[in-house]
Amino acid sequence: MFPFKSEPPSLVVSNLAKATAHPAVDEVWAVASEEGGAARDVATMSREVAAAQGKPIEVIPQERVGKLRPGKGDAMNTAIARAAEQGRDRVHFYDADITNFGPSWIEGAEAAADRGFGVVRHRFPRASTDAMITWFITKPALARLFPGTFLPRLDQPLGGEVLLVREAVESLAGSEFVRDRSDWGIDTVITYATSLMGLGLYEHHVGDGKRHALYGSLDELRDMLVECLDAARSLAGRPGPGSDARHGSDPPTPVPDDVKSTVAFDLEATKNLLDGPWGEEEANLADLIPGAMGGLLRARAEAGPSFMDAGLWYEVHGFLLDNFTLADHASESLAFRLWLTRVLAYTTNQARWGFEPAIAYLESTIDDYERRSASSPSRPAPAPRS
Ligand code: DGY
Repeated sequence: MFPFKSEPPSLVVSNLAKATAHPAVDEVWAVASEEGGAARDVATMSREVAAAQGKPIEVIPQERVGKLRPGKGDAMNTAIARAAEQGRDRVHFYDADITNFGPSWIEGAEAAADRGFGVVRHRFPRASTDAMITWFITKPALARLFPGTFLPRLDQPLGGEVLLVREAVESLAGSEFVRDRSDWGIDTVITYATSLMGLGLYEHHVGDGKRHALYGSLDELRDMLVECLDAARSLAGRPGPGSDARHGSDPPTPVPDDVKSTVAFDLEATKNLLDGPWGEEEANLADLIPGAMGGLLRARAEAGPSFMDAGLWYEVHGFLLDNFTLADHASESLAFRLWLTRVLAYTTNQARWGFEPAIAYLESTIDDYERRSASSPSRPAPAPRS
């Protein structure tokens, strides 16, 4: 199953064709978030591919399943409901924008499922300036909420590349928590929900990396940031997997040189975003952050973003987990500004050390957050969404 929106139709169809050609695959679904344009082109182009392969490729309109912004979550849940209804044995999910998708992805996941793992996630090296939501929102949240479990150590907790066996698909289809999540938060809740299923989780390593379009300014990630933050927040107070839950993973392989040297976003264009004006409500909200952060942030023009180091971010991230409100303009604007400050602090300092030291630094921050969280009293669940 491939969810798609505005990816180039030729890329989507090339991925559909590669999946269809694989002997383990019976049928391929592309869930289209919008009618017309791309959906029509993908449907037309894939008809020929399906005829040549003698297997169905269906372009399915995304249904309105959840309660938040209609987005990737609705697309995933459209396919999950359909697969559960049809009793499919195994379902693979892949993002439609992967430019190096191929049979080895399917084979790696199938092999782990054959060894008895009910959930297989693909993991892959990413540039040291890529995965900035993963490193600064999702992994810290998993570390502080579920220390000592495999969740903080999952390589790509926001990855949309996963294989699920029938039992996992049925369980997700029956979960209101998962169904409601119609936006970018879906990957977080699927990662969390599948970690509790007791079906075994394996991480299949894609040594070549996941090649896909990267970003201009980080403004492009604003929706994803606030929705992933809200999804992380929604995990607070929930139980985690047992520390003995079955988790396996392929060993890492040498990282390709071009992944090591990739710069994932436009630094100059992103720096300018911090100069955006402060709203009054946003400034008031910032004044609630412990440690006089509001004043520090507004004085940033002089200080630069470097003050937002890993230690300070632990406090700020905790404040966001406790206080963030999705769809509230001031809260979203502040969360974006804080995250951006942390990303720029890292990018203009540790990311300059080179790929290996930068990734080792990021990993050490997650280990540290996990240790700090394990040794402090558990955090209360946030107030329920109104
Ligand atoms: C992440 O942080 O993993 C998102 O994919 C954005 O890069």
